[in-house]
Amino acid sequence: MARLIDPVMQPDIARSGPKHVAVIMDGNGRWAKMRKRPRLFGHQAGARRVRQIVEACPKLGVDYLTIFAFSTENWKRTQVEVAGLMRLFRIYITREMQAFVRENVRVRFIGDRQRLDKNLQALMDEAEALTERCSGTNLTIALNYGGRDEVARATRRLAEDVAAGRLSPEHVDEETLPRYLDTCLLPDPDLVIRTSGEARISNFLLWQSAYSEYEFVDTLWPDFSAQEFENLIQSYGSRVRRYGGAKP
Ligand code: FPP
Repeated sequence: MARLIDPVMQPDIARSGPKHVAVIMDGNGRWAKMRKRPRLFGHQAGARRVRQIVEACPKLGVDYLTIFAFSTENWKRTQVEVAGLMRLFRIYITREMQAFVRENVRVRFIGDRQRLDKNLQALMDEAEALTERCSGTNLTIALNYGGRDEVARATRRLAEDVAAGRLSPEHVDEETLPRYLDTCLLPDPDLVIRTSGEARISNFLLWQSAYSEYEFVDTLWPDFSAQEFENLIQSYGSRVRRYGGAKP
């Protein structure tokens, strides 16, 4: 694994940096278009980039990395692109599963799995089970994920618990609701990065990112390097987070 940072020389990043970074990996299509290649070529390059960013996490002190791979809205893309992406996810999970175990990466998936094909669902289950005991980087892949859909699904389950008498309405609050979200085992993201120059959050981690810091960078995802990732982690250290409180 590439050594990105000498922990002796730069001990502060790991201490003061973000523990949970979430990434909207945007720009694969434009990257491919610039090379006069099909969109899927860009997605393949994007998938290769994921590995380098995951590998960079331990030395930067990033314990949780959450990446947006496919949104509930991405089904609107052409059938060719959707099928290509689904195939890419199957290949990626199959190929990377053993590497995740070797590198102590715990994999989780968030999103609604029911619309995904059964083979892909089985691979997702297998990757989660295989890495269950890994104690290093927590990699969460958002697949068929939408923030509104997640809140709606959580609310439905919460309502079922209320209807069944397992939860009383007066106990529904900011502590209770997140326990029903797909991210119930994850801390909220400290930093959300979006590549490709677009400054919007596109239905990603709506509840969880209420107090996240944001970085929008122009780089297209397949060009987003471990060095640029490290620079963003470093600049996060100079931010003052007040969570709605006053300046000290
Ligand atoms: C957005 O770029 C990217 C996606 C919708 C797919 C993200 C997928 C990957 C990075 C590759 C696979 C990931 C894994 C985990 C294997 P876009 O297509 O919207 O780009 P554009 O805005 O330039 O058209």
